[in-house]
Amino acid sequence: MSELNMATSMAAGAADRFRPRDARDRCIVALDLPNVGAAQALVSDLGEAVTIYKIGMQLVFAGGLDLIAPLNAAGKRVFLDMKLLDIDNTVAHGVESIAGLGATFTTIHAYPKAMRAAVKARGALPLGLLGVTVLTSMDDDDLSAAGYRSDVSSLVASRALDAADAGMDGLVCSAREAAQVRRAAGPDLLLVTPGIRPAGADAGDQKRTLTPGAAIANGSDYLVVGRPIAAADAPARAAETIIAEIEAAL
Ligand code: C5P
Repeated sequence: MSELNMATSMAAGAADRFRPRDARDRCIVALDLPNVGAAQALVSDLGEAVTIYKIGMQLVFAGGLDLIAPLNAAGKRVFLDMKLLDIDNTVAHGVESIAGLGATFTTIHAYPKAMRAAVKARGALPLGLLGVTVLTSMDDDDLSAAGYRSDVSSLVASRALDAADAGMDGLVCSAREAAQVRRAAGPDLLLVTPGIRPAGADAGDQKRTLTPGAAIANGSDYLVVGRPIAAADAPARAAETIIAEIEAAL
């Protein structure tokens, strides 16, 4: 077995613990809201429609970590989207602290050293580690402006290989690249895809978007949906429509 295949199959054992059970489980709602009260109101509005929530920097810096325990107690899972990137020691201790909070997933920017430090620190703790390949708000021009010589497609592919090699459980990438990432990284890594927009929805700042059905057809395991649900007139109905589209595409 090649080193890559061995790393991929070791990751498979870990990733299996984090696989979605059904269509509803695949729809991660991003709680990108200004305060805990607004997040609690959305969670209560969504009720049984949603089983997994993403808490990112906007809500974390407004007290959002306090929502993890009540969400877990209500039978929901929490993806704490911290996009860690720092020296190995700091990433390692950050991962330990995030596991202690009860999050089911967190993110590490897909730099080999940071991912290896995260995987080592996670050990047997029940925390899924996702590598962020290239933000879905970035295109080739943005990468070039940031000093990268690769285009989005080649950088995503090489970071996917690095993540598999490091023993990560999955990747965050655009649904547009999901099929290519599958081919590069093998069948076992979870693919978590933001930049989801139902047909006709406003893209906002996202540049590499896809509809829920097309994302599933491309091999996404989980879809991250923020504004199309949070900013909808009827969020629970918007979530159910997306979940029905996921179900139909499975
Ligand atoms: O509102 P929208 O559906 O665009 O929200 C997408 C969510 O996914 C945001 O919370 C954003 O931070 C996150 N995300 C992303 N692209 C990545 C990684 C995370 O859009 N590559």
